[in-house]
Amino acid sequence: DSGMFTYDPGYTSTASCESKITFIDGENSELRYRGYDITDLAGKHSFLDVSYLLMRGKLPTPEASKNFDLEIRHRSFLNEGIIRLFEALPDGAHPMATMGAATMALAAFYKDHLHLEDEDAFKMMRRRILAKMPVIAAMAYRNSIGTPLIYPDVNRYFTENFLYMLRAYPGGRMKYLGDGKNDEIKQVEIDALDAILTLHADHEQNASTTTVRNVGSTEAHPYVAIASGISALWGSAHGGANEKVMDQLKLIGDVKNVPTYIAKAKDRNDPFRLMGFGHRVYKNRDPRAETLKALQDKLKEELNLDSKLLDIAHAVEQAALSDDYFKERGLYPNIDFYSGVILTALKIPIEMFTPIFVIGRTPGWLAQWSELKQDPKHKIARPRQLYTGN
Ligand code: SDX
Repeated sequence: DSGMFTYDPGYTSTASCESKITFIDGENSELRYRGYDITDLAGKHSFLDVSYLLMRGKLPTPEASKNFDLEIRHRSFLNEGIIRLFEALPDGAHPMATMGAATMALAAFYKDHLHLEDEDAFKMMRRRILAKMPVIAAMAYRNSIGTPLIYPDVNRYFTENFLYMLRAYPGGRMKYLGDGKNDEIKQVEIDALDAILTLHADHEQNASTTTVRNVGSTEAHPYVAIASGISALWGSAHGGANEKVMDQLKLIGDVKNVPTYIAKAKDRNDPFRLMGFGHRVYKNRDPRAETLKALQDKLKEELNLDSKLLDIAHAVEQAALSDDYFKERGLYPNIDFYSGVILTALKIPIEMFTPIFVIGRTPGWLAQWSELKQDPKHKIARPRQLYTGN
């Protein structure tokens, strides 16, 4: 401490900004979007209405909700130039790399969004990218596996459209990612994914949101700020953890192996960490994880969740929650621990787990970016350092 600055790794004790959007109480496991508790939103209001709430500060009236949905459907198409960009990327390209590139490229197609002169311009900019993100995600995946890209269908609601673009088969039959028998998209699947997107929609000043605000503070194009958020979210310590949780559950492979991996996670000399556990702010239960767990229990039969994976996840959770190493450090399951089993039941490929986090977090990034830009006092981000050189 040089008397000027104190160093706090991850700056959890120094506020980087003021905000009216999301409130987190890490000790009491509370999360509120614009004053609404997350448990009153997830599964009770559509993800699009929650996106409207985050960006506009209030839930839409039924009329506004209908118009917003309609506009999102009609803005979901991508310029063919973006689609040609996908074709330049190799088979097997991770969809997160493709999404970052395509979102950055959107700035080249919407140059006018560099100077947003009024609230209507802000709304247009936000609705465009909110509508296009699931299309970019689905096309990124289809391109990575060398299958034809499916265009959005304006007759389908946002979340259904995403599942359709991921699963549909050019011949019209949706046999691609289905179980070969009944591949039509079920309402229970749409509702489950819609609730998952809501749970991911915003989370105060996490690493990727801070990145979006930092890039926004330099007066860069809003879409490159969102692209930078995608870059930060990809990390396995952040949004990339949901993919790693599934890899880890498969690596553990059997309930009898759980003690071995719990011991590895506790071993300070072993870099192995239990994916989906721990959080910079929640030192108690992550309220989103609780909601997802309840959703998982509800969907067990309806979605025929993989019981072997569930048993392993449950054994990991029980072992960790009863172990002093985890309790002393306030390490509880976070949002990423439960989402993967449900997404797997929705026949969503593992490499699409973090892209789904991007789709969910996009309204939060847009709301936070807008709040920064509409604050006349905002300045360029410029954290200081504690110089420890000679
Ligand atoms: C998200 O910030 C947000 O809000 C993020 C997010 C959002 O919505 O935007 O909530 C989304 O990113 C959730 C987190 C997803 N990441 C993971 O699940 C990856 C696994 N978790 C860890 O890597 C870790 O818990 C972090 C990255 C989340 C936090 O890391 P920290 O800041 O190092 O954790 P800490 O300071 O609380 O650690 C305290 C102790 C340390 O050990 P000691 O030095 O005290 O001996 O706990 C240990 C850590 O080594 N520890 C773990 C652990 N996480 C922390 N040990 C084993 N397994 C883990 N998962």
